Amino acid sequence: MGIAITGSGSATPTVELTNESLSQIVETSDEWISSRTGIQARRLAGAEESLCELAAQAAQNAIAMAQLSPTEIDLIVLATSTPDDLFGSAVKIQHAIGATQAVAFDLTAACSGFVFGVVTAAQFIYTGAYRNVVVIGADILSRWVNWSDRATCVLFGDGAGAMVLQGDKSRDRLLGFELASNGTQNHCLNLAYRGESQTLIGDVAIAQGTYQPITMNGREVYRFAVAKVPEILSKVMFRANLTAEDINWLILHQANQRIMDAVAQRLGIPAERVVSNLAKYGNTSAASIPIALDEAVRAGKIQTGDILAVSGFGAGLTWGGAIFEWGR
Ligand code: ACO
Repeated sequence: MGIAITGSGSATPTVELTNESLSQIVETSDEWISSRTGIQARRLAGAEESLCELAAQAAQNAIAMAQLSPTEIDLIVLATSTPDDLFGSAVKIQHAIGATQAVAFDLTAACSGFVFGVVTAAQFIYTGAYRNVVVIGADILSRWVNWSDRATCVLFGDGAGAMVLQGDKSRDRLLGFELASNGTQNHCLNLAYRGESQTLIGDVAIAQGTYQPITMNGREVYRFAVAKVPEILSKVMFRANLTAEDINWLILHQANQRIMDAVAQRLGIPAERVVSNLAKYGNTSAASIPIALDEAVRAGKIQTGDILAVSGFGAGLTWGGAIFEWGR
């Protein structure tokens, strides 16, 4: 069984926070943020917006593009680090979109989550277990950013993106993939739980608390991304018997324009073939690749038969690459 990639969708909150407005919240400037990152604005979800709503909208748009009915979906994989409910949010999305036949679960690999989700979904298709799968990448990192830490709060935004993968007997359009993890650098990027010890009785104590705002060693993450992303994509290209010339579009996790430029340069992919919407949305974590993909598809840039190289990277540390042909 092969795979066809037949639909994309996205949804972002309507409220925008520009660099200019952000510079009234913390000591920063449009000039600093734009020149160091390429980000000009980000969308932020308000208290009345949920991750499930954004994700459901993205999934519905992707399913419609694939010309499927929600009841034909067999599996929903939600890649997120910021679920509405720690027990999982995918099932609520399943209910919201009326995917009554689908099994749904959450998967967490931070900004690599979407690529990890696609590769996970692909295994179910290859084994013949499921035929129509929706992979969603969605995050509301604004919930977990320390809004007085200028080193991190300028980087992130909120949103959701989705892609439909379908089993296809004729051929396999997922041309290759590779995933990687390095726990020795886990301390570089965290959204960690911290609990205070509470004695229940005698010597029985538990820890209760909450997750602490994002902490990041920006320089280390930058160095890691610029080294590992070209390496992993080169490996995937080599195994798929492809060269940089064969890649129509490079869609990297939208973290920093300088990272994207450096990776593209190392791979020998010209800037006009690199998809970037970072300026508008900032780093939306697991959502960034599918939002960028969906915008490029709907703008008519990505056409049926185009070869796409995607790579996610981030906390864990985790990173992954995949190459696939768009459409059927
Ligand atoms: N505005 C103004 N000044 C700032 C700001 C800000 N928002 N943030 C930091 N500075 C200052 C620092 O205090 C420092 O000042 P100093 O030299 O007086 O000490 C100076 O700017 C340089 O700071 P650096 O952190 O060294 O800046 P750098 O050039 O490394 O850029 C950045 C920082 C943009 C975060 C970069 O390191 C980066 O993009 N790293 C990758 C981060 C990333 O991609 N993270 C997401 C991964 S995805 C995931 O899993 C969530």
